[in-house]
Amino acid sequence: MPEPIHILIVDDDQAIRDLLAEGLSDSGYCCDTACDGADGLRKMQSNGFDLVVSDIDMPEMDGVQFLQEIKRIRPDTEIIMLTGVVDVETAIQSMRLGAADYLTKPFNLVEVRITVERALEKQRLVREKWEYQKTLEAKVAERTIELSRKNREVEDLFDRLKFSYQTTLEALATALDTRDTETLGHSLRVAAYTVAVARRMGVTDPELTDIYRGALLHDVGKIGVPDAILRKPGKLTPEEWVEMRKHPEIGYRILQGINFLEAAREVVLSHQEAYDGSGYPRGLKGKEIPLGARIFAVVDTLDAMTSDRPYRRALTQQAARDEILKCSGTQFDPEVVKAFLDIPNDEWNEIHRKVMQDVMTRNLARF
Ligand SMILES: [Fe+2]
Repeated sequence: MPEPIHILIVDDDQAIRDLLAEGLSDSGYCCDTACDGADGLRKMQSNGFDLVVSDIDMPEMDGVQFLQEIKRIRPDTEIIMLTGVVDVETAIQSMRLGAADYLTKPFNLVEVRITVERALEKQRLVREKWEYQKTLEAKVAERTIELSRKNREVEDLFDRLKFSYQTTLEALATALDTRDTETLGHSLRVAAYTVAVARRMGVTDPELTDIYRGALLHDVGKIGVPDAILRKPGKLTPEEWVEMRKHPEIGYRILQGINFLEAAREVVLSHQEAYDGSGYPRGLKGKEIPLGARIFAVVDTLDAMTSDRPYRRALTQQAARDEILKCSGTQFDPEVVKAFLDIPNDEWNEIHRKVMQDVMTRNLARF
C-alpha cells in the first residue's frame, strides 16, 4: 500500500475549507484544515504535509507570508494558492516565491483535483530526482573510498617490489665486489655517495633510483673480465687494458632487456667517460654523459682515494677534495664538483659509516 498523501487546507472561510476537505478526501487524500496562517504553521510543524492549499487573502498572516514560512521550514512542501479574480497578480508573485500553482475563486472540484494531481506529480519527480542524486552521491563516496584503498594497496605493493629489487641488486653488487678483495663495499658506497650528490643537485625519484641502480651496478661488466687481469697484482699490459676497458660495454649488454634497469644501464655504459671527452668507451663530452655517470666519476675518485690499497694507506678526505677540485672542468663536471664540495665531511663520514655497517652485518639497507 502506498503511503497516504496528506493535504492541509488553510482558509478563513469555513465553507471553502469544508468543501475542499470533503472533495479531496473523496479522491483518497488525507485532509486536515486550519483557519489561518498561524494555525496552519502549528499543524505544519507537528505533522508535516505533502501539499498545502492556502487562501491568499487572510487576516493576520496573509497567504504570501504563510507561503514563505512554509518554504523556510519545509521546502519540500507543494503549495497551491487560492485567489479572488482581482488578486491574480499576487498569485503570480506567489509562484515566483515557490508556489506550485494557483486556483481562482470560484473553482470547481474537478479543477481542484487536476491542479492537486499536477502539483503532486511535480513533487514526486523532484523527490525521485533527489533520491537518485543521494544514491548516486553515496555510490560515488563508496567508490572513492574503495579506490583510495586500492591505491594504497598498489603503492604498498610497489614499495615492497622496489625494496625486493633493491636488495637483490645490492646482493648482486656485493657479490661482484667480493671477487675483487680490494673493493669490499665499494659498489654500495659509491651508490650511496652518488645519491647524496644527486639529491644535493635537486634530483628526485624516479631519476634518483635509476641513478642509484646505475652506480650500484657500474662494474657489473667486470664479470666478463678474466680473473688473471682483474686480480693481477702488477701493472696491466696494453693488451690487458684493452680487455679491462671492455667492461662498461659488457655491463651494458648484460643489462639489455631488463626494463626497470633501462636508465641505469646508460650509467653503466658511461661510468668511465670524462667531462672533457678523454674517457671511454665512446669519448662522450660534457652533458652528453648521463648525469648519473658524471656524478659517479666524482664519487668514485673519492672512494678510491679514501680507501686502503695494498700499496698505500687511505688518503684523507681533504686530499680527495683537493684532487677533485683540481680536475673540475677536465675530468669532472664543474656543477657536480660544486655539489660534491657543498656536502660537509661529517655527512660523507656518516654515509660511509652506515654503508659499512650494512656491509658488515649483511643487512643491506636502502639508501
Ligand atoms: Fe669501472
